[in-house]
Amino acid sequence: MTAATAHAHPNIALVKYWGKRDEQLMLPQTGSLSMTLDILPTTTTVELDPDAAADEFVLGDTAAGPAATGRVVRFLDLVRERAGRPERAVVRSVNTAPTGAGMASSAAGFAALAGAASAAYGLPTDARSLSVLARRGSGSAARSVIPGLAVWHAGHDDSSSFAEPVDAPPMRLVAVSVDAPEKAVSSREGMRRTALTSPFHTAWTASASRDLEAMLDACRDGDFSRIGRIAETNALRMHAVTQAADPPIRYLRPSSIAVLDEVQSMRRAGLEAYATADAGPHVFVLARPADADAVARALAPLGEVRVAGPGPGVRVERHDERHG
Ligand code: PMV
Repeated sequence: MTAATAHAHPNIALVKYWGKRDEQLMLPQTGSLSMTLDILPTTTTVELDPDAAADEFVLGDTAAGPAATGRVVRFLDLVRERAGRPERAVVRSVNTAPTGAGMASSAAGFAALAGAASAAYGLPTDARSLSVLARRGSGSAARSVIPGLAVWHAGHDDSSSFAEPVDAPPMRLVAVSVDAPEKAVSSREGMRRTALTSPFHTAWTASASRDLEAMLDACRDGDFSRIGRIAETNALRMHAVTQAADPPIRYLRPSSIAVLDEVQSMRRAGLEAYATADAGPHVFVLARPADADAVARALAPLGEVRVAGPGPGVRVERHDERHG
């Protein structure tokens, strides 16, 4: 049997991806930029089984449900098509993000699956190939392939839509998992509904492109304050465009707003930090490394805090050919 294992970490966008140009190819309408974190990795092993009639997906120590299994099977079908190999596989995935931490995102999962499946089926495992492939599982997974700060170029076709590293000053993200239910509207449905019904959608797309250009400039200049301001504004713009959808989508809860307010008071008091939030209630707070502990202490009463730094990109381990 041929098997390979890969490890990947979640990423949090500082300029968000919210809208697809091509749902099939998972091409985004705009580019985005994120930090891959050094906490809560996912480890995935793909083991080919020439005798099996179907793929199997084991999450933690139990067989995954039909929806999650379906996504994995569709992804493996794409890998098999590219590799020109028919074998079915057993996929075992261990996600260290506790449920409700707000980072059980599919990004680390599909980045790890892209790495392990590519190695097991004999596809290239360079960063660009893995980023292109991971994107097909979940758009944001394209960025978890890359260490630290990553820009995902929107691209114009399958091979031109990938992420690559960006230089930036040292930063930390303080993850604040607030006490609120997880998202009720998936990012896939949220993006679709926003594009179809939000009257602000065109404005969002134009502003997100400008935010990305400004963010890349700020990263080049190593300007933490500018990076933070752009990230917070961009996040609130994403939440504004979703709230204007019909029916409206509100990911932020009162407990999220409390964190946003506290971040604003911290800034007024001279502790510089900036907030962002994805398609869920949890908040991620950007700080300079020297301030991260103070920021985490100030936010601890509002949720469960974790301090994350820039993390590694996907790491692939090939197993030896073995029998059994
Ligand atoms: O790739 P998905 O379906 O997990 O969508 C990601 C959407 C956001 O997390 C809200 C934004 C982003 O750029 O990660």
